Amino acid sequence: MLQGKKIVLGITGSIAAYKSCLIIRQLIKKGAEVQVVITPAGKEFITPVTLSALTSKPVISEFFAQRDGTWHSHVDLGLWADAMLIAPATASSIGKMANGVADNMLITTYLSMKAPVFIAPAMDLDMYAHPSTQKNLKTLQSYGNHIIEPGTGFLASKLEGKGRMEEPENIVDCLEQFFARKESMKGKKVLITAGPTYEKIDPVRFIGNYSSGKMGFALANECANRGAWVELVCGPVSSAMQVNNQSIHRTDVESAHEMFEACKALYPSMDSAILCAAVADFAPERTAEQKIKRTGDDMVIRLKPNPDIAASLGKMKKKGQTLVGFALETNDEESNAQVKLKKKNFDFIVLNSLKDEGAGFRTDTNKITIITADTKKDYPLKPKEEVAKDIVDNLECL
Ligand code: PMT
Repeated sequence: MLQGKKIVLGITGSIAAYKSCLIIRQLIKKGAEVQVVITPAGKEFITPVTLSALTSKPVISEFFAQRDGTWHSHVDLGLWADAMLIAPATASSIGKMANGVADNMLITTYLSMKAPVFIAPAMDLDMYAHPSTQKNLKTLQSYGNHIIEPGTGFLASKLEGKGRMEEPENIVDCLEQFFARKESMKGKKVLITAGPTYEKIDPVRFIGNYSSGKMGFALANECANRGAWVELVCGPVSSAMQVNNQSIHRTDVESAHEMFEACKALYPSMDSAILCAAVADFAPERTAEQKIKRTGDDMVIRLKPNPDIAASLGKMKKKGQTLVGFALETNDEESNAQVKLKKKNFDFIVLNSLKDEGAGFRTDTNKITIITADTKKDYPLKPKEEVAKDIVDNLECL
């Protein structure tokens, strides 16, 4: 899977920098081409001579190679690479990457990178556990970067044993798995809905819900990482929710009606759809043109049903197309999910319950059960990026 792949290896100033040699050796053994970019602090821990001997390439560290007008182009490196791996990644470099502080060659290369980025943090547990480091790691993850850590191989929900850099062979395994998955959905087109819908009451108020879009965006990233073309239709989510993948086309909508129109137009040309959005089932019968004033002791808003996007796509579904839905429940979870599975003609339904701590709206984690007409599989609480992998693995098995 790594044969012929071009990897930019970023090395920062950590004691774990010596392990970069083992990473390089394994990558090269598996047929990859490696270009090292090292920070000034990184060079205090490992010499460029060792690294260039292992990669058979000069190590890049400074913008200007020598005083003759030649310089290293971070933009060219960004276009050359099939992947960028930053291992070890210190708290300082992680902070700079998350905030665009482009003061060395490694960070400028990261900011110009067109290929997927993998980051293996290395620091002591206190630094790792600090809210600022955690915030920066989450920011990088929201940019679609892959965080590789001991334990799960990717960013885990618990802090114990964290901070230490993942072992070189596991880091290389993560890259291999990524490239294996990358091919697996090549040529497939997937429609994904994400986030809430807002149903206008008047110019300042709406009926909405707590969906952040995190689960849907994680699904979009996962499908795109496996080589699929993704049409992401999303309701109003925070401006922090950004897609950073050229294989994802995003359409922003506000209401259930707008989401319905977008999905109806897209689904016929898709291979699959994953409907993760929390769509309002009802909308105000009328939207007031002016802000409604407070009068009297009570107020009644009459609601009318919204289109059921899932049920409509279920009816449109052709042979060879697949349709996956979600069920967000608070009681009688399994039986409610079974009813939706049948009624909406899903191939499988992903059940998440608000009774489970860390599951559902806004959290970075989710706990799901995947239910088909005759099977049921429970999964443990995991980061939404990992949950997305489980869901897409199931989709690929249909
Ligand atoms: O966005 P996050 O904060 O990360 O939260 C993720 C999530 C909790 C929103 C997500 O995991 C989830 O459960 N999404 C579905 C929420 C929901 O509306 O479930 P439901 O049981 O009401 O709907 C069942 C299915 O029908 C869903 O696939 C839904 O997208 C779809 N539906 C519902 C109503 C409607 N009018 N049209 C629809 O297509």
